[in-house]
Amino acid sequence: MKYFLGLTLATMMLLSCSPGKPNQPGEEPDINKSAVEAITDPTKGIGAIKNVTLENPLDQERIKRGVAIYEMKCQACHKLTDQRIVGPGWKDVTKKRKPEWIMNMITNIDVMLEKDEEAQKLLELCLMRMPNQNMSVGDARDVLEFMRQNDGEK
Ligand code: HEC
Repeated sequence: MKYFLGLTLATMMLLSCSPGKPNQPGEEPDINKSAVEAITDPTKGIGAIKNVTLENPLDQERIKRGVAIYEMKCQACHKLTDQRIVGPGWKDVTKKRKPEWIMNMITNIDVMLEKDEEAQKLLELCLMRMPNQNMSVGDARDVLEFMRQNDGEK
């Protein structure tokens, strides 16, 4: 079904932009394009987060909030090393996964566990479903910044 929808969208795009014609500004809104990308780029996961722009140096304010969230809501199951306790350790998670995937995992865990192949592999490994903790997109972005620092980014 997903595949079929992807094909349909791709076909719609092909029909709506004649090949070779440069994209006029404002002519073809990018909505179709991002829909197709979301469907065809499984490495970004499934959810509201389609595009995350990362910057250096890291945002220290975000990191502070990220640490606080980690200690309150994540630490019981996630270590900062590569050691798995209940869930996988976070060391190098930002190198293995796209930022969009990580943030969709944090904000949309139930759908991710149901539909995303990589999330399902983790579930098979950990044998326990990560709970939905009502994290906002902003919260997830803060935690991501902390994960980047944990992985040695400056
Ligand atoms: C009750 C335990 C538990 C808590 C609390 C928890 N997680 Fe998880 N997490 C898991 C498990 C288990 C997995 C593996 C997927 C699964 O089995 O559901 C996981 C997977 C993940 C992954 C993917 C890791 C990887 O290696 O790709 C991320 C990212 C993540 N959690 C973020 C968070 C964040 C952020 C918090 C805190 C807001 C949090 N988790 C709180 C249990 C937990």
